[in-house]
Amino acid sequence: MDEEPGGAGGDDRGHLWQLLAIGAVASAIGIALALAIDWWPTLASEEGAKIDTLYDVLLIVSVPVFVLVVVVVLYCVWRFRMRPGQENLDGPPMHGNTRLEILWTALPAVLLVALCTYAYVVLDDIEDAKGEAPMNVRVVGEQFAWTFFYENPDGGEEISSNRLYLPVDTSVLFHVQSKDVLHDFYVPAFRLKIDAVPGITTNFKATTTDEPGVYDVVCAELCGLGHAVMRQTANVMPQAEYDRWLSEQAAGGGGPVGTGEEPAEGGGADGKAVFTSTETGCGQCHTLEDAGTGGTVGPDLGESLAGKDEAYIRRAIVDPNADVPSGFQPGIMPGNYEDTLTPEEVDALVTYLAGVSE
Ligand code: CUA
Repeated sequence: MDEEPGGAGGDDRGHLWQLLAIGAVASAIGIALALAIDWWPTLASEEGAKIDTLYDVLLIVSVPVFVLVVVVVLYCVWRFRMRPGQENLDGPPMHGNTRLEILWTALPAVLLVALCTYAYVVLDDIEDAKGEAPMNVRVVGEQFAWTFFYENPDGGEEISSNRLYLPVDTSVLFHVQSKDVLHDFYVPAFRLKIDAVPGITTNFKATTTDEPGVYDVVCAELCGLGHAVMRQTANVMPQAEYDRWLSEQAAGGGGPVGTGEEPAEGGGADGKAVFTSTETGCGQCHTLEDAGTGGTVGPDLGESLAGKDEAYIRRAIVDPNADVPSGFQPGIMPGNYEDTLTPEEVDALVTYLAGVSE
């Protein structure tokens, strides 16, 4: 790179090779870096593996294209820069280069068609398997919570839960609905998501792997002030444990299991644990000194509940729009805690909040 630029003829070829060498090295480094980065959380679905591979292929193909463009731009800026005395000169006249133009049209076209075809095949693969009579879960979104409904093994009313419970190694067909505005049901660990659209039911199928685990369930469509806190969890558990949970729910009790955040049995739910758990999400919206939470979407409970009795606190939980403190809007806090929490959990919350508000 030390020869005086601007020379004609033989020099050009040498520069081209230098350019290619720099590009190849930079591409190799870029690809290695791109693949080394953990772009995604833990993978927890069979379908997700295909999507992860697709992403890797996209990265491997995109990095050299990016590097090529940047290397050519930087090289041209350096090599064809203006020198003293050239301020008023035009550059040399240029005519089209047909070979180059065909090349830079055809190559990206082939590349794009190939990648689109590959992506389509992956999508089709994942959607195709939808029909294979898996387990069904109805997912209902509302501002700002998800509720999950299960077929009752005893044939009665659907079982509802504010956590998503799934057995390992099972295909699950999600029937996604919305009560109010657009939401988007997204489990990053499954790599799959779909819009929840008022008035219609959308579907996707995910197959859990044989690893139990707890994963995030999020909303991926801006749906209002509480969008960011519309987060719950998916608990993938051994089949026996799942069956036990489902039959307990069918029998009308049980409560949450398997997260270690609350006592699984015994009825005496810990109000503070219910408050701080990611499922209720209380602390994500409310500041409460005793619980160590600092949310600012809703009122600071240290202020708004000060001196209030249990009846007021209970109403504030199950019917949050009945009395909204000034400075806050109605309709932000989910109104379904009476459905999604067990009566013991509501009692525990009321007792706890009354205790810290005295
Ligand atoms: Cu619901 Cu964002």
